[in-house]
Amino acid sequence: MSYTDLRDWTTTVDRLGDLRTLRQAQWDLEIGIITELVMNQHGPALLFDDIPGYPSGHRIVANALGGLGRVALTLGLPTDRDVKTTLRLWQEKKRGLKPIPPKVVKDGPVMENVYRDGDVDLFTFPTPRWHEHDGGRYIGTGSVDITRDPEDGWVNLGCYRVMIHDRNSVGFYISPGKQGRIHRDKWFTRGGRMPVAMSFGHDPVIFLAGGIEIPWGLSEYDWAGGIKGAPIEVIEGPVTGLPIPARAEIVIEGFVDPADKKTEGPFGEWTGYYASAEREEPVVRVAALYHRHNPIILGCPPVKPPSELAYYRSFLRAAAIEEELAGAGVPDVKAVWCHEVGGSRLFNVVSIHQRFAGHARQAAMVATQCHAAAYLGRFTVVVDEDIDVMNLDEVMWAVCTRCDPEKDIEILRRCWSGPLDPIIPPGQKGLNSRAIIDATRPFEWRDKFPVVAESSPERRAEVLKKWGTQIFGQQAGVTPRAPVGAGATSPGGAQ
Ligand SMILES: Cc1cc2nc3c(=O)[nH]c(=O)nc-3n(C[C@H](O)[C@H](O)[C@H](O)COP(=O)(O)O)c2cc1C
Repeated sequence: MSYTDLRDWTTTVDRLGDLRTLRQAQWDLEIGIITELVMNQHGPALLFDDIPGYPSGHRIVANALGGLGRVALTLGLPTDRDVKTTLRLWQEKKRGLKPIPPKVVKDGPVMENVYRDGDVDLFTFPTPRWHEHDGGRYIGTGSVDITRDPEDGWVNLGCYRVMIHDRNSVGFYISPGKQGRIHRDKWFTRGGRMPVAMSFGHDPVIFLAGGIEIPWGLSEYDWAGGIKGAPIEVIEGPVTGLPIPARAEIVIEGFVDPADKKTEGPFGEWTGYYASAEREEPVVRVAALYHRHNPIILGCPPVKPPSELAYYRSFLRAAAIEEELAGAGVPDVKAVWCHEVGGSRLFNVVSIHQRFAGHARQAAMVATQCHAAAYLGRFTVVVDEDIDVMNLDEVMWAVCTRCDPEKDIEILRRCWSGPLDPIIPPGQKGLNSRAIIDATRPFEWRDKFPVVAESSPERRAEVLKKWGTQIFGQQAGVTPRAPVGAGATSPGGAQ
């Protein structure tokens, strides 16, 4: 099943029965609270229309990637598989993925409405105030900021939040070390202002690519093109020359001057806090605004997990870490999962088939510091392959019974963090520590480790066959333990 752009995606999701259209919800908090409630339940995609104070047709799509079928649709995978099958299919597709550069076209629907300089008015759109303590209206949540490396010329797309300051200026926040931030630092070091384009509604695959770690130097356009199997069509921005998605809903172009700063934040963040509070951040002076008729904002406000952003990135990041472990030569990795409760960054689990003394530490160190995991991580747990990495009960049982804290917990210090880290006090942000928890059976005496006191799958199956209906009713096949991945913290429960 394929689709062309955000509108077509929305229609496709509606056909799949996975979209709810809501009318007359207020931009000031109501849309945000509805979105939070639905994200917390792993509910359907939301389309807000007829927003009071705005023309009918000026819409918002939210919770787009908050369900497995919708993530699969966006990745070009079958939409009706369980989480483990979808993850395997994605890993296979990702391994063979050939980036396809974007195709430059002369015109596109995004140019249906063009405004320059003083005519730009960002209040044309029903931008929500998403959370109660937000310092402003955030038009950029499911968005991408498009920048070019002034040295190498490659184009990065990063999902970095964007707050409206006034009708023709916005503030944006990029954490230190992110690729867009390195671009910006390079422009500023050269003493120049940075050209930037920002897209606020687009094919969800562009959003998905902009919000996950992709190797330095590889443009998210090329990566997203590889997923679609066809180039993303782009127009050279008339003001900056930056490539902008031709079928986008709303795009701005402008410049960022290093000396031009304003207060940005606070904003509800993916950790579930307002940890970075408010800071002076650079301002984009908007030189041009383009939008389609009846434009749609793609919104993905961070909320305390369960959240959309943690949900779909658990999936993407797990696949990325597994690939990076293989790339680093760590053998016999059986599975990786990034738990939603940690926002897909703070609590990650790797299972291995232990081959040699030190194998668990090797896996843990790489899984903690590889590109997909390096920013703002906290806990990495390594377990044996009999433990299901997606099942928090099993993982924590392994931690409780196979980890002797004195020997099996390592602390890494001075790792990559940033202002959003809630446990680092204000004034000291930037670095954090990591705990590696080795919850594997100690390699040296693993064969003598106590046998697990649980009936074998064969015995269980026999007993269930005989007794299942009497114990569990018609669902005789269901075991007393929750099926793998059915907890609130894993996508298995989110179908
Ligand atoms: C909805 C959403 C909002 C995000 N907001 C920010 C943000 O405001 N600042 C930031 O540095 N990263 C933010 N991120 C994380 C980055 O998008 C992510 O780290 C991405 O890999 C950055 O791209 P880069 O690797 O090209 O730097 C957000 C991600 C998502 C999905």
